[in-house]
Amino acid sequence: MHDQFSQFEHEGWERVADKYDSVWSSLTRQFIPYLVGAAEVRTEMSVLDVACGPGYVSDAVRKAGAIPKGIDFSEKMIAIARTMFPDLFFVQGDAQNLPFEDAGFDRVLINFGLLHVSQPEKGCAEACRVLKSGGRFGFTVWAGPEENPGAMIVNDAIKAHADMDVGLPEGPPHYLYGSRHECQNVLEQTGFDGNSMNYDTRTVEWRLPSASYFFHAERDAGVRTAGLLVRQSPERLDAIRVAIENGIQRYARGSEVVLPMAARVVVVSKA
Ligand SMILES: C[S@@+](CC[C@H](N)C(=O)[O-])C[C@H]1O[C@@H](n2cnc3c(N)ncnc32)[C@H](O)[C@@H]1O
Repeated sequence: MHDQFSQFEHEGWERVADKYDSVWSSLTRQFIPYLVGAAEVRTEMSVLDVACGPGYVSDAVRKAGAIPKGIDFSEKMIAIARTMFPDLFFVQGDAQNLPFEDAGFDRVLINFGLLHVSQPEKGCAEACRVLKSGGRFGFTVWAGPEENPGAMIVNDAIKAHADMDVGLPEGPPHYLYGSRHECQNVLEQTGFDGNSMNYDTRTVEWRLPSASYFFHAERDAGVRTAGLLVRQSPERLDAIRVAIENGIQRYARGSEVVLPMAARVVVVSKA
């Protein structure tokens, strides 16, 4: 992990690890049933949960009767996962250089992890390497703003008000593998059977306690967008905050906000 983007991500996740669960997991957990279901996780299967964070995918895998192993590059996340699920296996390590032998798993799952990896294709190739023949790889990534109302609000606010030239290390696109065709190409190049690919878009409702919650979540408990926000002038930051809060108003329902958030749920078999 010597590249600048990986270092930026690693520092970021170590900083926000103890906030991730309370701030984001009410959103990201909603996609786990789709991911585990689409990957057809079955009893006794060995399943690798990459970028496991607090360990919710591993827990869902265990509840499906399979045997999970979780891996994350953040020591703090691994400590949290071990505390939350003391009877499950978690280890620290990089998605781009998995410390496992070839062909040991029936399934590899990544819930909202690939977009944080400096070379997502390397993450896909590693998933393929550790899968048994015919095994399946499943992952989620955020859908782009045009199909994702929550992302659209942040995207528009940043586009309108942010200074993008603030020296952030270059990373993969925020909306990774935004088209079915691109996704299939990448998966074919990294060892998968492109014809077996399932590429679904799922939308969930994220319930927020107030219109200001999303901005504060991004600024205080995020990594990539937080990196951009903390480098803005106070005036720009305030304009972004106001734009996000205004954008969210149309999703207010009584005292809370119900914000639609969409992600791709992708599953593919090893060639
Ligand atoms: C958005 S969180 C998702 C956590 C979990 N999968 C979930 O669904 O709750 C992203 C996770 O990816 C991890 N991560 C980012 N880059 C990684 C890498 N190169 N290798 C392993 N883990 C990584 C972070 O530490 C963080 O826990």
